[in-house]
Amino acid sequence: MTAMTPEQLTKQVLAAYAGTPDPRLRQLLTSLIGHLHAFAVETGLTRQEWLAGVEFLTATGQKCDDERQEFILLSDVLGFSSLVDLINASDGATESTVLGPFYVPGAPVRAMGEQIGRPEDGSPTLVHGRVTDRAGRPLNGATLDVWQTAGNGLYDTQDPQQPRFNLRGIFVTGPDGAYQFRTVRPVSYPIPVDGPVGGLLRGAGRHNWRAAHIHAIVSAPGCRPVTTHIFDAENPYLDSDTVFGVKDSLIKQFRPAGPGDPADVSFVTDMDFVLAAGEDG
Ligand code: BEZ
Ligand code: FE
Repeated sequence: MTAMTPEQLTKQVLAAYAGTPDPRLRQLLTSLIGHLHAFAVETGLTRQEWLAGVEFLTATGQKCDDERQEFILLSDVLGFSSLVDLINASDGATESTVLGPFYVPGAPVRAMGEQIGRPEDGSPTLVHGRVTDRAGRPLNGATLDVWQTAGNGLYDTQDPQQPRFNLRGIFVTGPDGAYQFRTVRPVSYPIPVDGPVGGLLRGAGRHNWRAAHIHAIVSAPGCRPVTTHIFDAENPYLDSDTVFGVKDSLIKQFRPAGPGDPADVSFVTDMDFVLAAGEDG
């Protein structure tokens, strides 16, 4: 009897899943098994390495709780979250990027132009622009749900010194699609490295800094929502963002406020959002 080959085993496993009734699940499983087997064969994966992988994934799961999703963090630092975003993008719409683990639903709806932070949170900044469809028509009733860290690099949920919903807010456009809000100039901040993902980054010799950004989820009736960021063009981490979230079209100048700008802000940035028609929500 000749010994079984890796190819024969892979074929046998694929055959065992070939009867998966749901066609999409069958496609996903077939592809996953094929790639997983090819990975082990290509790298000559040892038993110790296989076990280290099992232990790493176990620790990743054990680090998860109601407030911490270490698997999403893992997907983020491997560029997998950004890849899934790219695959699902709508042509001509604002590019999307990672949601991140710090989004909190239910932020207060604020008056147009309102300041979402406190004076001690950083340099006062005006963000303004328009929300339109792909033909450039303004979207009435579009919602911008925005959030960011304070100048100490912490979200309100990480920092007992900040009030709940500090630096978070929802703004709703009128018929001209225009929006504006006051915030603080965003800063770079480190992603958490006290779990297995931190070990992975250290092992790879990668830093854990995110390029300075403001998060936004922009939605409108009859449109596909976009989860995205506004990045500060002067930030040093644009080329090495730890979660591969930066897209050129999302990088904006935070220019010093001039004579024509409101007197209470130090910086101004302009960001238009474009939504594609489709399923809202
Ligand atoms: C964030 O921008 O909030 C974030 C995104 C991915 C991983 C960690 C943090
Ligand atoms: Fe963030």
